[in-house]
Amino acid sequence: MKLWGGRFQKNTDKKVDDFNSSIRFDKRMYKQDIRGSIAHAKMLGKQNIIPQEDADKIVAELKNILADIEAGKVEFLIDAEDIHMNIEKILTDRIGDAGKKLHTGRSRNDQVALDIRMYLMDETEEIREMLLHTLRTLLELAKEHTETIMPGYTHLQKAQPVTFAHHLMAYFQMFKRDLERLDDCRKRTDSMPLGSGALAATTYPLDREYVAEDLGFSSVTQNSLDAVSDRDFVIELASCLSMIMMHLSRFSEELILWSSNEFSFVEMDDAFSTGSSIMPQKKNPDVAELIRGKTGRVYGHLMGLLTTMKGIPLAYNKDMQEDKEPIFDCIDTVKLCLPVFCDMIATMTVNRDNMLKGSKGGFTNATDVADYLVKKGLPFREAHAVVGRMVAQALNENKSLDEFTLDEFKEFSESIEDDIYDAISMQTCVNDRKIIGGPAKETVEKAIQAAQDYLKTAER
Ligand code: ARG
Repeated sequence: MKLWGGRFQKNTDKKVDDFNSSIRFDKRMYKQDIRGSIAHAKMLGKQNIIPQEDADKIVAELKNILADIEAGKVEFLIDAEDIHMNIEKILTDRIGDAGKKLHTGRSRNDQVALDIRMYLMDETEEIREMLLHTLRTLLELAKEHTETIMPGYTHLQKAQPVTFAHHLMAYFQMFKRDLERLDDCRKRTDSMPLGSGALAATTYPLDREYVAEDLGFSSVTQNSLDAVSDRDFVIELASCLSMIMMHLSRFSEELILWSSNEFSFVEMDDAFSTGSSIMPQKKNPDVAELIRGKTGRVYGHLMGLLTTMKGIPLAYNKDMQEDKEPIFDCIDTVKLCLPVFCDMIATMTVNRDNMLKGSKGGFTNATDVADYLVKKGLPFREAHAVVGRMVAQALNENKSLDEFTLDEFKEFSESIEDDIYDAISMQTCVNDRKIIGGPAKETVEKAIQAAQDYLKTAER
């Protein structure tokens, strides 16, 4: 008979057992479920809601059950529906009547809300560590490349030269925000729902604050209806994880492009590439492609979760059991992608010569020629027009701007002198952009220093 079977005349249909059961995916919350039950039992004893010796028995046996699960000695039953009732059933089978008192003043509705909050907070910590590792990886790479000049793009057209370090540090900023977002999301998850009961709290004098403190929560939820039907924190985490994937995917896309023969800016290590079953010459950036591809499933889960929640009247409805697989898959996917991404970028070969060569084509110093003319006294709009004509002629003659002779330059403007060549070299173009946020070597070195200081405050 089911734990809730008292009012029923028939057993559930076998198909309904399978359909209704969530044990195959919610069993991963066994640790959180047991931790929550231990705290609840301790509190029931302390409040004299159940005899202290029963509470002690429950706590002791729950610890045994935890050890047995970790040793692989426990078999969960589809019939017992979910992780909550499986563990309660095992407990009762083992210690009898005392076990039957555990669920006093509690409902599975507030129990599952507690478990999923704890589970997500635990996982958030692990992902946070992985993000810190990603930030460190980017930083180490950036340190090596403050002088590695590469073209910066807009519209995927060459625009102005930057450095590879500057490009990497752009991603540092993105993943730093991702980490801050995770911390922020965790704050809203960090509220203890037990005591909300099925929906209308309970008549027992539960000590909610005691349970919260025991479990390491910083607050208790403030409305029983909200506490059992809120899954905002699940959706918020899915959104944070989507953002992480979006950033990973953009960088992956760039690495895929840069690995192509047309760019040849980077080459993935053999250990992070795959070949073709038919074309012997092929070396493909599959890892980056898979990260880009997996981004789709995480976005999909975010939309799925929003849709699942959108029409649910208060309070708990079984629809909400559908929150687990999507958020678990978001977590698994991000945890799969971050470490492999880090190792992939740490081991790739950066082709400095090709990056520099690439930065020279496409008139990436045209703005700097205009700025040169401005320094010689021309209004910027006029300078822009002059350089426009230079570019047109250089295109005709199939050369770059620095290949004009001084005489040729002077035909465009008398104020151009011999110092033009240094003023429009790639190095000058980059290193004169030293204002805060710019690509100059000295500025990026400061950004790296600031990033290192930030990491010290973010590590825990
Ligand atoms: N397995 C359920 C879930 O994941 C637990 C709560 C079930 N409560 C209920 N009254 N059916 O949401």
